Amino acid sequence: MAQINPSILSADFARLAQEAEAVRGADWLHVDVMDNHFVPNLTLGVPIVESLARATDIPLDCHLMIEQADRWAPQYVEAGAGSVTFHAEAAAAPVRLAREIRAKGARASMALRPATPIEPYEDLLPELDMVLIMTVEPGFGGQAFLDIMLPKIRRTRELIDKHGLDLWLQVDGGVSAATIERCAEAGADVFVAGSAVYGAADPAEAVRALRAQAEAATATAPWACAH
Ligand code: DX5
Ligand code: ZN
Repeated sequence: MAQINPSILSADFARLAQEAEAVRGADWLHVDVMDNHFVPNLTLGVPIVESLARATDIPLDCHLMIEQADRWAPQYVEAGAGSVTFHAEAAAAPVRLAREIRAKGARASMALRPATPIEPYEDLLPELDMVLIMTVEPGFGGQAFLDIMLPKIRRTRELIDKHGLDLWLQVDGGVSAATIERCAEAGADVFVAGSAVYGAADPAEAVRALRAQAEAATATAPWACAH
């Protein structure tokens, strides 16, 4: 079952409650937290996540593009996030951090920048509920999808299957009607879309259309047929 997570990075930050309402039917709301150190952009932090969690019943998928992830990630669980993604490159102790996020009651997820390989993290996968393969360099919405990430998506799906894990595989960056099928065929099952959803005339309809495309592509994908 394909999940579509609209990224509020492409929404109007002064109207976040209404922007959440505009994507009713979305599986999760993707919240991009940037600190201007890990990435060259600055967005929002714990207080806004706390307010947004109260303002919508769509669960929050917080993507932390921040340094010192070990110190900050648990606070996003306390703020109300249902899933917290830290970057492998920003976590000093990813196993301890994933366990702490789970112990506090959220799904634990780890993201990889485009140049970070999945293979060194194979033994760590059982500690996670989701892996995020970035399909752009993190920092900004509206960038072009990096096709060169498709082999990494495929290899990650193979590792998930090899170990028989119940682990979601998320893609983020440049996901649109033009690219979502390639992601689904390669093995992704959770799709973040910012500009493709909030740039559409009807964002809720864009979510439904993307999900339909992803599900059709998954139905014929070798990785899904084998299940
Ligand atoms: C980029 C963010 C993405 C961004 C995606 O660093 O992590 O979540 O919002 O935006 P689009 O879908 O426009 O590429
Ligand atoms: Zn993101």
